[in-house]
Amino acid sequence: MGSVVFKNVVKNFGALNVLRSLDLTVPDHKFLALLGPSGCGKTTALRILAGLDMPTAGKVFIGERDVTRLQPRDRDIAMVFQSYALYPQMTVADNIGYPLWIRGTSEAGRKAKIGEVAAILEIGHLLDRRPRQLSGGQRQRVALARAIVRDPAAFLMDEPLSNLDARLRLTMRGEIKRLCQRLSATTIYVTHDQVEALTMADLVAVMQGGELQQMAPPIEIYDRPANRFVATFVGNPPMNILPAALCEQGVTVATGIVPVDQTRLAACRLAEIVEIGLRPEDCSVAPPGEAGVLQGEIYVVEPMGNETLVNVRLEGGNVQVRAGRDFRGVVGESIGVAFDPANACFFNSGGLTAVHRVNNNGRVK
Ligand SMILES: Nc1ncnc2c1ncn2[C@@H]1O[C@H](COP(=O)(O)OP(=O)(O)OP(=O)(O)O)[C@@H](O)[C@H]1O
Ligand SMILES: [Mg+2]
Repeated sequence: MGSVVFKNVVKNFGALNVLRSLDLTVPDHKFLALLGPSGCGKTTALRILAGLDMPTAGKVFIGERDVTRLQPRDRDIAMVFQSYALYPQMTVADNIGYPLWIRGTSEAGRKAKIGEVAAILEIGHLLDRRPRQLSGGQRQRVALARAIVRDPAAFLMDEPLSNLDARLRLTMRGEIKRLCQRLSATTIYVTHDQVEALTMADLVAVMQGGELQQMAPPIEIYDRPANRFVATFVGNPPMNILPAALCEQGVTVATGIVPVDQTRLAACRLAEIVEIGLRPEDCSVAPPGEAGVLQGEIYVVEPMGNETLVNVRLEGGNVQVRAGRDFRGVVGESIGVAFDPANACFFNSGGLTAVHRVNNNGRVK
């Protein structure tokens, strides 16, 4: 196993600058999710690490070895693609054993190892089948088995669940997490799904426009987003952002004044904050006209079964509020939105988080 390092990696495709200057370290044995919207450069970064593309500038290291100029096969990594890329004419057993065959492992050695990984992934009964005789989830397991059959320095996975239906995705998400914990392998997992990133990873690296926005443990990404982009990309529904102006007692938001303690207010002043950010679960609905709540009207009500999402129109923008499962309300009705200002964060005009939330129940130090 080994750590993985991108050092000032730049990638241009002609005039298109896809990776600006990527600096990223994945410590040994850690599971890193590379998260970002479509086209931000995730696959490009992974392909450079795998040796399938060369960087325009910069270096990549695997286990302290500079692999920038090495062939893919000399890098000691295993990659799982979105399209599992199984060999259709080979049996499941031969697909799994292929990386061993390439290395010249004996037939007996291959057989033992194939049996071992097939047992881990519970596909022992499928070994004689061809890929076309398998379901999507089974193919996915075969692709994983082929990746873990030898002990590579690092696993690279590029959206390995995106071809599966929603239910299977959910199951496989847990299975891959378990598998990676069991193998304790350095893993880079590319996804544009923030739930996958939060639930599976030890560390999340959020990218946008070829640049790293923040790298931190999932809870820290969620509770202390570095900027407006991370704040709104992570979380479902995303963080509410409203214009905010400073005043004597606190911050003016929509039609109300939000009291903010003097220390934070001073920090807000210094940073010249322009917006407030509030997670939907930190907001609650309140009777209209109550002191200290923002006044608005119901825009949409979405019952989710276990809770109700209430979209409230305020002056300055709409906010999503997570309300109880029994919430009843009618579109157009007046309603208040309440929250504890200690749970709010504030952004400056450059979109950076200038003042973080105070309360995080000790989740982040
Ligand atoms: N071989 C190539 N030639 C030219 N442009 C490319 C090439 N490969 C990727 N790009 C461009 O580079 C940018 C980043 O692509 P990349 O595949 O890395 O995105 P991604 O983050 O993996 O997106 P997705 O979530 O959609 O898979 C895109 O604008 C894409 O069009
Ligand atoms: Mg991609």
